[in-house]
Amino acid sequence: MVAILLGPPGAGKGTQARRLEEDLDIPQISTGDILRDHVARGTDLGKQAKQYMDRGELVPDQLIIDLIADRIDQDDAAAGFLLDGFPRTIPQAVALDGLLRAREVPLRAVVLLDVDDEVLVRRISGRYLCRECGEDVNTGGEEPPEACPKCGGELYQRDDDRPETVRKRLEVYREQTAPLVDYYEGESLLRRVDGSGEVDEVTRRIKVAIKG
Ligand code: AP5
Repeated sequence: MVAILLGPPGAGKGTQARRLEEDLDIPQISTGDILRDHVARGTDLGKQAKQYMDRGELVPDQLIIDLIADRIDQDDAAAGFLLDGFPRTIPQAVALDGLLRAREVPLRAVVLLDVDDEVLVRRISGRYLCRECGEDVNTGGEEPPEACPKCGGELYQRDDDRPETVRKRLEVYREQTAPLVDYYEGESLLRRVDGSGEVDEVTRRIKVAIKG
């Protein structure tokens, strides 16, 4: 089964995709995570992508489409996958349609996580990550603890979580990604889900939207 989690920065796509992987028995494919891994390893793609990511802009479509074409052909994606952060532009959505058609795999659902801007900004500004274990410690706007509560590792904020970059990411979402709502509504694939409230409750709503 192939499904997409769509929504603005901070909507909870990554949080929810990681929880749904086990339940749906398909891997999460996050273009943001793949790009951050390239940046950390200093690959050519990582060096190119970093310039765009640090400005809160989208990485050029063709780089992302090639990356996804490669990733969905890996063995663990044979039974399907859950896309998180892709597609993000109309050309990416059109390319995905072509990739799925060529592999004769249908797209089951596109779940749009609806969350107010005020909540998005609070979630992003409160996000601290552990350098050691990757734990996501969200303070909800309060000061962060001195170290990771799980392993004692150092906490840091993503470079693109700075307030001016977050404003740019939200603007880019409205201009370049929000048109996908009409695109998938036109294909009767869009399911709107309230992404606010408890994480467990949002997971439950998404499961109903995908399976129902
Ligand atoms: P990417 O990594 O995809 O980031 P994003 O979607 O902009 O933002 P987030 O990761 O913040 O959003 P999320 O919805 O996953 O929220 P999360 O679950 O983390 O992309 C980064 C950059 O890479 C882009 O700007 C672009 O440059 C590039 N890129 C990536 N894909 C691309 C593409 N396809 N094309 C071109 N460029 C691309 O949650 C956020 C926080 O909120 C967490 O701390 C979490 O714990 C918390 N939280 C989540 N749910 C709840 C809840 N229900 N209640 C309370 N807190 C919650």
